[in-house]
Amino acid sequence: MQVSKLTPNIGAEVTGIDLSRPIDDSTRRQLNAAVVENVALVIRDQALTPQQYLEAIANFGEVMPQHFTQYALPDCPLVHEVSNRHQDKAGKQIKHGEGWHTDHTNHVRPPKYTCLYAVALPSQGGGTAIVNMRAGYQALPDDLRQKIDGLKTVNVFMGSAVARHSSPSAEAQAERKPEPVLQPLVRTNPDNGSKALYFHPLKTENIVGMSPQDSQALLDELLTHAVRDEFTYRHQWRKGDVLLWDNRAALHRALFDYDPSEYRLLYRVLVRGELPH
Ligand code: SIN
Repeated sequence: MQVSKLTPNIGAEVTGIDLSRPIDDSTRRQLNAAVVENVALVIRDQALTPQQYLEAIANFGEVMPQHFTQYALPDCPLVHEVSNRHQDKAGKQIKHGEGWHTDHTNHVRPPKYTCLYAVALPSQGGGTAIVNMRAGYQALPDDLRQKIDGLKTVNVFMGSAVARHSSPSAEAQAERKPEPVLQPLVRTNPDNGSKALYFHPLKTENIVGMSPQDSQALLDELLTHAVRDEFTYRHQWRKGDVLLWDNRAALHRALFDYDPSEYRLLYRVLVRGELPH
């Protein structure tokens, strides 16, 4: 197995491994360390059934259920489809993951890794972008870092900011759940002690002690400082790629820069994380 860095600040590529077969402890440790160190990892040239994909991802931890159970594969429900053919009740394409986000911050124990596997791809474009929020945190001006250390975000299924960024479908609005979950705005990764900015712009209702409007203004300011080209990896998919990233230190988004008449299908699996602190 070879692991090579893709950019100086984020991303590494793994070749020479077949995830359809069991792997030994030392390889498993190397892969897990590579995700934590590089934030995003692409494992090339895999040929996996959904069940083999699940078993491969179990090398990274416990696979967990996902929101939106309508996208689960019927025979393998921990694997979800991310497809550009999903539509809302009005027949409009649902653009999954269009803006910067991290997954399931409204869960008490959100996923530490999100994993995607390429099944069908457009002929051009349709990549996934991931930004290193550890680097983003380090790049903040000192006074801003001091201002946010120790702050907590209040996370809901769908924050009121959604209405300012898009027109959520009636189904999505009906699914708004009231139970708020507190998360640290600066998250420490227990695997290496590093700190990273940690928030979902659309699931954060507010920062504790601040109004939703002031909270969004602060989150926008943080995004402006942290989301930089040099901290971002834009993955151009190849058939057979497995891409995973460390949600404790990353935001991600789908790039809708391709011909929408071409089919794009990825399989998504989430790996359970620890309680954020
Ligand atoms: C996601 O946000 O999980 C999907 C990313 C993608 O479709 O590239």
